[in-house]
Amino acid sequence: MLTRLAESELWTRQKAVYEALGMRAWSDGVVPWRATTCPLLADVEAGLVAAFAEDVGPVTLVDVGAGTGRLAFHLARALAARDVPAHIILTDVAPSNLEALARQPQLAQLAATNRVSFATFDALAPTRLARGPVVLLAHYLFDTLPHAAHRRRGDETFEGLVDVAVEPWRWSFEPAPFPTCLRGRGDGTFLVPVGAARALEAWRSRFDGPLLVLAADKGVEPRSADELPLLARHGSTSAGVDFEALAALVEPTYRALAPQQPSHVFALFAFVSGATTPSLEQAWRARGSRGEVLSLLEAFERLLGSEPDVSTLLAFLERTAGDPDLLAQLAGRLRAATLDEAQARTLVRHLATAGDRHFVFPQQLDVPFELAITAHHLGALELACALYTLSLRESGAHPSTLLNLALAHEALGRRAQAKEVIEVLLAHTPDHPRALALLEQWAG
Ligand SMILES: C[S@@+](CC[C@H](N)C(=O)[O-])C[C@H]1O[C@@H](n2cnc3c(N)ncnc32)[C@H](O)[C@@H]1O
Repeated sequence: MLTRLAESELWTRQKAVYEALGMRAWSDGVVPWRATTCPLLADVEAGLVAAFAEDVGPVTLVDVGAGTGRLAFHLARALAARDVPAHIILTDVAPSNLEALARQPQLAQLAATNRVSFATFDALAPTRLARGPVVLLAHYLFDTLPHAAHRRRGDETFEGLVDVAVEPWRWSFEPAPFPTCLRGRGDGTFLVPVGAARALEAWRSRFDGPLLVLAADKGVEPRSADELPLLARHGSTSAGVDFEALAALVEPTYRALAPQQPSHVFALFAFVSGATTPSLEQAWRARGSRGEVLSLLEAFERLLGSEPDVSTLLAFLERTAGDPDLLAQLAGRLRAATLDEAQARTLVRHLATAGDRHFVFPQQLDVPFELAITAHHLGALELACALYTLSLRESGAHPSTLLNLALAHEALGRRAQAKEVIEVLLAHTPDHPRALALLEQWAG
């Protein structure tokens, strides 16, 4: 049956989709997460939160649709580094996600000291989780909330109706008024983030203090009047967010702060309501608006597509705010390179920071292992041992991790510990040739 896109069951079944996927949404790479949960974004946002707190007093943060919880983990650290005492409530519409978040060891530790807590929360039917000034984080959230489709061709304007019960979806564009939030647009097909606008209005009426909403999402790619709207389907459905239309929909309740350069790949926007915020505005000009995360991701893509020298790789790492995932993906290249002493010291420093910032979360790449073998390769043996141990805890007793850990202990002169590790390895893989050879060598 044809329905307006904004009223389609696509959007109402998001909760069920995320509930069914659980943490597999992220661990199996179904839903993207690196950009919106990276340490650099947390660092930029901590600066904005600190400035907002200067303007309005102590704030509570609400991460709406917290996903893996990785952003809150980085943000808690970045806020503490700035001496901003702020409590973060991790929320989701899917209760199974919250159960998983509460079990995550680093978040559980933060919860034990009351730095974070957990609550179910529907962005579209919010409960009042906090009083006073609140910062709401909406990362890859607005793209999952309802969107309407509109089209202009010359003087004619239409609204998009869709039947998602058939494959491919059947679309029909029926004559309809053009929304005022798209005023000034030429011919094309447009997605209007009506769900995000509803959420922002609902948050405004639910919370009593000044609000800052930090929204990180992909933007919109222009579509001609002959093309269908662009909706990504990865288990759930998501749409690029037309932030310009959203800003028009929610003014004057909210004032929008926009990035200097628009992007359809990744954008950070701020929406402010209920306060004058000179410090925030200054922080926005200084950092928030500069698209740091986007340019980091672009630089990363360029590195992957080229053969950078060591100093280029190290200069890139300097910009990542200690991002373990980016370093792990570059680790093979760094191991293959020849480093002078100063470069090796710099890389060990990056490995130590990245190990410290690693958010324990099973994913396709064993990040601690990649960091560990790189530290091992550089002769930073204690660091390597710590990182192998982290890998064992996160990804289980892999023979190569155990073998490398034993070799690192042995190289540090800790034969007894090395033997213990080899015995664990042989308990899992009794005929492991290297392990048997090592025991024999040590016995002799
Ligand atoms: C694409 S994920 C983003 C997760 C995380 N913020 C990130 O950046 O990786 C969308 C998240 O929003 C949650 N979600 C979907 N609809 C929601 C709603 N109406 N209210 C609150 N959370 C919602 C999903 O369960 C999921 O955790």
